[in-house]
Parts: sequence; structure tokens; C-alpha cells
Amino acid sequence: MRILAIESSCDETAAAVVEDGRIVLSSVVASQLDTHGKYGGVVPELASREHLRAIVPVVRSALEQASTGWNQVDAIAVTCGPGLVGSLLVGLTYAKSLALARRLPLIGVNHVEGHIHAVIMESLAAGVPVEYPALALVVSGGHTHLFEVSQDYRYRLLGKTRDDAAGEAYDKVAKLLGFGYPGGPVVDRLAPHGDPKAVAFTLAKMKGNKLDFSFSGLKTAVLHWVEARDLQSEIARRKELLRNNPRPSLEEWLAVTPPTTLGLLASFQRTVIEELLRRVNASAEEIGAHSVIISGGVACNSGLRLAAKAGYPPVHFPSAALSTDNAAMIAAAAFPKLLRGEFADFTLAAQANLTLA
Ligand code: KG4
Ligand code: ZN
Repeated sequence: MRILAIESSCDETAAAVVEDGRIVLSSVVASQLDTHGKYGGVVPELASREHLRAIVPVVRSALEQASTGWNQVDAIAVTCGPGLVGSLLVGLTYAKSLALARRLPLIGVNHVEGHIHAVIMESLAAGVPVEYPALALVVSGGHTHLFEVSQDYRYRLLGKTRDDAAGEAYDKVAKLLGFGYPGGPVVDRLAPHGDPKAVAFTLAKMKGNKLDFSFSGLKTAVLHWVEARDLQSEIARRKELLRNNPRPSLEEWLAVTPPTTLGLLASFQRTVIEELLRRVNASAEEIGAHSVIISGGVACNSGLRLAAKAGYPPVHFPSAALSTDNAAMIAAAAFPKLLRGEFADFTLAAQANLTLA
């Protein structure tokens, strides 16, 4: 059974064809990085416009790359939230039109469930399936959420961020220091070149639910560190570098980033990883997890991957391509719904704040 899935919740227009919930026949992602990069973050109006431009060719090439004709598609899956409502609407409206025109069932998928299923799908394909109950950490630019995942794909929220998401903290710190957007990948590349003990950040102390996260204190601590120093000229040099070259090499970044700033980045990354993993470990123990799933854009982080591998129970990460937003994960999450006949009708709405549990 083949599902054609569409994802447009943020700044990536994506379509994919996935067979039987585990064989990715195609996964096409049109990124809007070049549109939003110069603004230091996603501009919602521009995102909707770019989705409108990209959606038809992206879906067409997903079908072509999968050598799949309309008569081989069994259902259309689409992200209905959470996300930017204007962005969601583009994918949702197109998916509904296709379902109507081709008389195919429509399946609405929660974006966060998609991130979790990216890992479940790849673990099945690799022959090392996720074991349940599983502990899932979804960590991206919009989420830092911990869930208990059961065998039949039910979710219980164990903790979430009370302010910024971890990816958002990366993006804000990078923007402050002139590293452009998104911040995660560049900080990740530079962090191994700095001293992770250079700056002693304090870990967040949570009142109430100890499994909740907070990254705003860390962000403010970075801001104070920067304000206490005269960094204007090095920040200006980095902005200049980005103006001339939107994708600088590691050497080019290192040439405009002195050891003190590299130490700050390394210490920031070490602190984020520590905040994430101490709650992963505590919650995995609390629910007696048989495996851990770490997914979402920040799951690309090499420091996080390295540190998490040392833990127990076994940790499953998505491949780099399926860590950030894509539509293959939406098809994967839709497959059990297709088997259960959980279809949406044409009243399916875009829900900016849709929750999973
Ligand atoms: O899942 P995603 O593509 O979109 C959301 O649903 O938010 O995640 C994007 C986020 C951005 O905040 C980006 O800075 C972060 O993931 N990110 C990383 C890395 N790659 C992407 N953060 C840390 N290290 C990385 N290597
Ligand atoms: Zn995402």
C-alpha cells in the first residue's frame, strides 16, 4: 500500500511516497532557507508564498521519483498541525483537492507524531525495531517534548519546554552572534573547536514537573556574556562573511570566530545536551522504557548523538535526512491510521496548536 504524504507546517515544502509504512520510495524537500536566512528566522507570510510556489512541482517530483502513478496511490496523508497556519493551509488544501479529484482517502497527521514515526519507520527498515514502551524526545525549532509511546502508538506527555524550544535557543544564540539562520548546524560544527568548560552555565531548576524544560535562562546568560564583552567587530565580520557567501565553510567560520567565542558555543551546546539528556534518562527510568527515540531537527546534533549513545536503554535516532522536516515521516505516521481506517473528511482544519497528548 502506498501513501502520498504532504508536509508544509513550517519552512519546508515536502512530499513523499512510502510503501507499507516503511519503504521510502521518494522524499522530496524544498527548503526555504534562502528566503528566510537573511531575516534570521522564518517570516510566516513569505513561507506561505513559497509553499504555494513549490507545492505542485514538489508533489509531482515525489510521484515521479517513486515511479508511482495515481492508480498506485492508496491514500493521501497531510500534516494538519501544529505549525504556521498559513503554511499548513497550503499543504492541507492541496491534499484535500487531490483526495477529492482522485477519490482517495485523506489522513490528517500531527507533525510531532511524524517526527516520532520517522524513527519507528527507519528502525523497522534497519531490522532493529523500537521496543515499547518507548520514551520519545521530540526536539526541534518548535518543540522540546517528552512522550511515553506505547506499542499501539498512544502517547502520554511527560514533560515539555515552558519557554523556548532547544532548536529555538540555538537559533537565537546564533543570530545574536552573527552566525545567521538556522543556528543549530553552524553551532554544532563549531562547538568541537571550543572548550566546553569555558563558560559555566547553570542548569535550569524546575518547580513542579521536573521533566519540563526551560531554555530562556540559558539564552539570557549567553546574552549577558556577550554584552559584557566587546564583540561588535567579530559579529560584523561574520555578518559580512554571510553576505558574501550564504554557506561558509568550517575554515571560513573559524577564521572569524576567536577561541573565546568558540568556548561559549561549546559550553552552550554542552549545557543544552545536558539539559536534554538528564530528563531523557530520568523519564526513561520512570516509565521503564525499553528504548529511547530522539527526533526532530536538533536530533541532527553530533554532540547529542555522541552523548546519547552512551546511555541505556538503546537510543534510536533518525537519519540526517529524516531528522529535519520531511514528508516521509508523515506517511509513516499515517500508515497505522490507514490500516485502522482512521480517515479525515473535508472539514479537516489546519490547527496551529494541535497537541499530541
Ligand atoms: O524539525 P525541524 O526541521 O523544524 C521544526 O519542526 O522546528 O527543526 C529545525 C531546528 C532549527 O531550530 C535548527 O537550528 C535545529 O533544528 N537544528 C539543529 C541542528 N540541525 C538543525 N540544532 C542543533 N544541532 C544541529 N546539528
Ligand atoms: Zn519539525
